[in-house]
This record gives sequence, structure tokens and C-alpha cells, in this order.
Amino acid sequence: MSLLPELAEALEVDMGKLLSGELAANDRVSGNVNRVRFWVCPSCGNVVTALADTGVSCCGKRLRPLTARKAGEEHSLTLQRIETEYFVSSGHPMEKEHHIAFLALVKDDSLLLRKLYPEWELQTRLPFWGHSRLYFYCTQHGLFWQNI
Ligand SMILES: [Fe+2]
Repeated sequence: MSLLPELAEALEVDMGKLLSGELAANDRVSGNVNRVRFWVCPSCGNVVTALADTGVSCCGKRLRPLTARKAGEEHSLTLQRIETEYFVSSGHPMEKEHHIAFLALVKDDSLLLRKLYPEWELQTRLPFWGHSRLYFYCTQHGLFWQNI
């Protein structure tokens, strides 16, 4: 058993996959960023994205992909178009225990991830990409999306 970490390293495979015997490769994924998935580690706040389901672990725990909900009144962002950009703002709390941790602008073949930090007001600029989808993650209420 003590050799397993070294064996997994030598074979360049995940130790969990090695133990379960699930070493089959994923099907080839087309580059459709509209199917992007997000994972957030509850321990360290690490954000992971991928274009298909995959095994993701962080801080020694397996993570589940987040399920995005359509933004409602409590969780929505205000976007004001200024020439080639959007000015994004929100009255959502930005406290350590409850804040918007990232925004992700998604369109066709592109993904722009913007990390946000507590104690700063939620005000940022994003490029205007035409019709696109904006994801945002609240540390207490999960992942939301709104079309822009
Ligand atoms: Fe929230």
C-alpha cells in the first residue's frame, strides 16, 4: 500500500483511479466552451474548470461539479455597456463568509474567469462579446448564470 503513491506517480495516473481500476480515457471532447463545468474546493476555495465531466479532487477530497441555477433577484449582476466593455456591479455582500468569488464569461470558444475577493466592492469590467453567458459563484449560495 505504501508504494501506491509512487506507482500512481510513475504511471501518471490518479491514485483513486488506480485503486478503482477506472483508467479508461474520456471520449474526445469537442471544444464547445458552452458546456463548461466548474468545481470549487470547499476547503481552500480553488476553482477548477473543464469542458467535460472529469474526476476532480482538491485538499484530499473528491469534488462534485457545481450545478448552475438561473440568477434571481437576490443573486443578479447589473451590467452597463460602455463601448466595448461591460461594467459589472452588484449589491451582493462581499464579506469573507459570503461573497461572489468569481465571474466567468462564456461564449462559443472562449472563457474568461475573473477572480473576486471579499472586502472589495463587486465592480469590474468585462469585454463585450455579444450574446454570451455570465456565470458567478456565491460562496454561500452556489453557482448562478445569467444571459447577457
Ligand atoms: Fe449569496
